[in-house]
Amino acid sequence: MAESLHLPDTQDRSAIHAALLPQVKALLHGETDAIAAMAELAAAIKQAFQFHWVGFYRVMGEELVLGPFQGPIACSRIARGRGVCGTAWVEDRTIVVPDVDRFAGHIACSAQSRSELVVPLHDANGHVRAVLDVDSSVFHDLGPLDAMLFEDLGRLIEPLL
Ligand code: SME
Repeated sequence: MAESLHLPDTQDRSAIHAALLPQVKALLHGETDAIAAMAELAAAIKQAFQFHWVGFYRVMGEELVLGPFQGPIACSRIARGRGVCGTAWVEDRTIVVPDVDRFAGHIACSAQSRSELVVPLHDANGHVRAVLDVDSSVFHDLGPLDAMLFEDLGRLIEPLL
């Protein structure tokens, strides 16, 4: 396929998601490299939704290490259990933070982040191997609907982990 996204002219995230999911599936079809797939997905999400920061951290030993991302520079390493990302990893659950000031231990890689969503991604054995992190510069911009949308998108990466 041509490397361009066709997105509806709307702010309705469900509609954007419905248009985005099959296009990203097609884009990643046949891709065998996790980094390439993460890079494409981070770019696609950033382009579609214009969030402040979208990216991946990969599990490496006792740390999360920065992977492909779109947005300002960010923390390169996050210890297990630290911040929203490290918590999503150890608790193995999607975490939605509508207001980062109300999440004890939130790591402020960017002072502009106001709400955040982190989705853990698993290998074939069910172990968390990476997290998808989405940061918005708007309070309460990310919620349960977004969690479902980004879990769908994150699942496209899991077969490569
Ligand atoms: N805020 C995250 C750190 C990563 S940056 O947002 C890119 C956290 O608390 O884990």
